[in-house]
Amino acid sequence: MKIRSVTAAQACRGEAVFVLLPDGRVDSGEALAEPLKGARATGDLKTSFRAVGLFHQPKGAAIRRLGTIGLGGRRELDTEKLRRAAALAQQRAEKLEVASFALVVPKQAQAGLAAEDVGRALAEGLVLGAYRYDAPRKERAGKRFATAAKVAAVGLDRRAAQAFARGLQLGAIAAEGAVFARDLENQPANLLTPTAMAAKARRLAGGRLKVKVLDERAMAKLKMGALLGVSRGSRQPARLIVFEYRTPGAKGNVAVVGKGLTFDSGGISIKPSARMDEMRYDMCGAGAVMGLFHALRHGALGTHKPKKNLIGVIAAAENMPDADAQRPGDVVRAMDGHTIEVLNTDAEGRLVLADAICYAKKFYQPEKMCDLATLTGAVVVALGHECAGIMGNDQTLVDELIAAGKRADEPLWQLPLWQCHKDQVKSKFADLANINSPAHGNGSTAGGAFLSYFVGDTPWAHLDIAGAAYGALPKDHYTGGATGTAVRTLVRWAGSL
Ligand code: BES
Ligand code: ZN
Ligand code: ZN
Repeated sequence: MKIRSVTAAQACRGEAVFVLLPDGRVDSGEALAEPLKGARATGDLKTSFRAVGLFHQPKGAAIRRLGTIGLGGRRELDTEKLRRAAALAQQRAEKLEVASFALVVPKQAQAGLAAEDVGRALAEGLVLGAYRYDAPRKERAGKRFATAAKVAAVGLDRRAAQAFARGLQLGAIAAEGAVFARDLENQPANLLTPTAMAAKARRLAGGRLKVKVLDERAMAKLKMGALLGVSRGSRQPARLIVFEYRTPGAKGNVAVVGKGLTFDSGGISIKPSARMDEMRYDMCGAGAVMGLFHALRHGALGTHKPKKNLIGVIAAAENMPDADAQRPGDVVRAMDGHTIEVLNTDAEGRLVLADAICYAKKFYQPEKMCDLATLTGAVVVALGHECAGIMGNDQTLVDELIAAGKRADEPLWQLPLWQCHKDQVKSKFADLANINSPAHGNGSTAGGAFLSYFVGDTPWAHLDIAGAAYGALPKDHYTGGATGTAVRTLVRWAGSL
């Protein structure tokens, strides 16, 4: 999606112009005054949220079609509504089979929000709303329409107009990161293997971004017994993918770690067959990390120079049953020496993350870190698909991430992580067990509690995105499949470092 910031006058020509309309009178610029008056006169113009109208203009007019997208009450306006409205405009324009279209945002549609935030939300809506997974088919996919948009915000002074243009640009970059993540996440497991994911990661390298990939031999040398134990049952070799995004003058590191199970059959503790195909999405933590570095590589931070270098570590593996797969009861040793009794081979995410966290700590000594993982079915039961769970050992960091999630409209909801939960994952046969007793409940917290042993006293937060990664209600900028969740949150967080 090509997005350009223009003046209202420049927007008001061409095949299709969409205007965002809250309830009540609006100032949408001189050029739209007449067409809008005409549209209102038909009696067909609705301004309730998501109401779409299309008004053909007389021959010879500068605009061929005027589209209207309702925003509803002004007081209830927020960035998520703007994001959805922009996505709707793109989708309506696409149906018209126009190559490009314009979007006009009256002052009254900006709801007193900062101009940069308005720009971001609109660009994100346009990019996310235009996303389709290009499934492999015999027939090639048809030509895409409405792939370029001119966007005009009415009534801004020079500084605000600049902020708006910057928002458009940064929002588009962040959303392209999310769309990149969605594309990886939607791939079936036979197409996106750990090796294929590593190849995709390598292609992101350049500029300030370095990418390194460790194979199983290198991981064996580092004694990553927990990660390699998970991978044993698969023909697909595991990969550890490492990103380093360095900013001149930055001191110290911040690490982001992702669970990258390209498929999770459960292993010997095999999952039921119903909806097992969805375990293609078990790499969405890794997807979020890939999306973040895609965005960083393309300039998501604008002129902001983070004071910390950003490190990404992805544990990519496949969890399969096999004659050589690890068994329930096996004891493995993680890179930092902790021994783990694998009571359930389906609790594999925490095993691969344990070694990825050890790796980040040993080689980068991060000042803080977070991990993202589709870790537990329990978080879906507790919180559903419209938010992710977050927990950690440092409230300041948890609050930072919750704030970043708010700005991105990707809500995070905190779950507890206490000493009693940590005690639940101690084992008689090893230092730790990879599950607590089902009698304890708190399945999501148990996953976090297990990880906390590998984190030690580094400030850390764990995002369980099993619900948020896929399966939410469609909402204009999300039409199904993988959501690409957490990429925009991580970009916002990186912008605060
Ligand atoms: N990948 C799953 C978690 C999951 C479940 C993600 C449903 C998305 C939707 C994870 O590896 C897993 O299987 N976790 C187990 C843990 C249990 C054995 C303690 C689970 O949640 O059942
Ligand atoms: Zn599992
Ligand atoms: Zn899993």
